[in-house]
Amino acid sequence: MKILVTGGAGYIGSVLVPELLAAGHEVTVVDNFMYRQASLNHVCADPNFKLVRGDVRIEAVMKPLIAAADVIIPLAAYVGAPLCARDPIGATTTNHDAIEMMMQHVSPEQRILMPTTNSAYGTGDEKNYCDENSPLRPISLYAIEKVKVEQRLMEHPNAISFRLATVFGMSPRMRIDLLVNDFTYRAVNDRFIVLFEAHFKRNYIHVRDVCRAFLHGLANFEAMRNQIYNVGLSSANISKLELCQRIAQQVPDFTFLEAPLGKDPDQRNYVVSNAKIEATGYRTAYRLEDGIRELIKGFTMLRNNSYGNV
Ligand SMILES: NC(=O)c1ccc[n+]([C@@H]2O[C@H](COP(=O)([O-])OP(=O)(O)OC[C@H]3O[C@@H](n4cnc5c(N)ncnc54)[C@H](O)[C@@H]3O)[C@@H](O)[C@H]2O)c1
Repeated sequence: MKILVTGGAGYIGSVLVPELLAAGHEVTVVDNFMYRQASLNHVCADPNFKLVRGDVRIEAVMKPLIAAADVIIPLAAYVGAPLCARDPIGATTTNHDAIEMMMQHVSPEQRILMPTTNSAYGTGDEKNYCDENSPLRPISLYAIEKVKVEQRLMEHPNAISFRLATVFGMSPRMRIDLLVNDFTYRAVNDRFIVLFEAHFKRNYIHVRDVCRAFLHGLANFEAMRNQIYNVGLSSANISKLELCQRIAQQVPDFTFLEAPLGKDPDQRNYVVSNAKIEATGYRTAYRLEDGIRELIKGFTMLRNNSYGNV
C-alpha cells in the first residue's frame, strides 16, 4: 500500500518507517525536521521511500500527499505536556488544527491509523483501573487536544486510534524525555534519582511493539477499524518506584529517593487494560527488562558531553 507517515522522522516514525518498507509498502514521509534530526538516513537507499521536508499545517503541502495515499499514519505533533506548555500556539496548530485540516481532505475509503495517548485517563476509577470505556480527564493542553482529535478521528469510517502507553527503547531520533528512557539515562550517567509521586502507576510499551501494533492494524484493518485500542505492555503496569527497582537490577549502584518536589501535569496514575487489542491477536514481543538492557547499551553512545571532556 501507499502509506503517508507525517512526522515520520520522529522517535516512533524512524523505527516504524523501515518496518513498513520491509513489509513491502511504499512510504512517503513528511516532516519539518524540527529537531534537526537525520533519523531516516538508513532508508534513503530504498526506492519505495519518498521524503518531503514540509509542515503538516500547510494545506498546499498536505493536499497532494493526502490524495496520493491509501493509508495515513499521522505522527507529526508537538509531543508531551512540557513542550505544549512552552509553545501552545505551535502545539494547537500542529496537534489539533493540522489534523482537522487533514480530515477535510481525506476520502471515506482512505485508512487512518493514529496514535493518541493514554495520558488522558488521569487517575482512573477508585482502583485506578482503565479500559477504553473509562472516562477521560485530560488536564494538560497536550492531552486535551489528543482527546479532541481522537473524537474527530472516530467520525471517519476507516480509522483506528491506538492509545499508546509511555513508549521506551532506542530510536534513531532518540528521546530521553520519556519516563523509562529518562530514568535509565539518569541511572547510567548520574546513578541517582529523586522521585516525586513515586507510587503513581503508569503503563509502558517498547517502541518496536508500537510499530508491531501499526503493522497488526494494517493486516487486520477490516476487523479492527472504527475502534479505539489501548496499546501497552500488560506486564508493565508499574509505579515509578517499581520502575527504578527494575532498572537497579541492571544498574546495581543506582540510588533513588522520594521527595515531594514535583507534580505530573496529567496526574497519570492508572492501571491500563490492553485486553481489547490482545483479543484481536496482538501480543507484545519486548519486556521492560529487554528495553532497559537495550537502553543501557544505547546510552554508551549517547552522552551529553558538549561542554566537557568526558
Ligand atoms: N512517544 C510516546 O510515548 C507517545 C505516547 C503516546 C502517543 N504518542 C504520539 O505518537 C506520535 C509520535 O510521537 P514521537 O514520540 O515519535 O514524537 P517526536 O517528537 O519524536 O516526533 C514528532 C515528529 O513530528 C515532526 N513534526 C512536529 N511538528 C511538525 C510539523 N508542524 N510539520 C511536520 N512535522 C512536524 C517532528 O520533527 C518529529 O519528527 C505523536 O502524535 C505522539 O503524540 C507518543
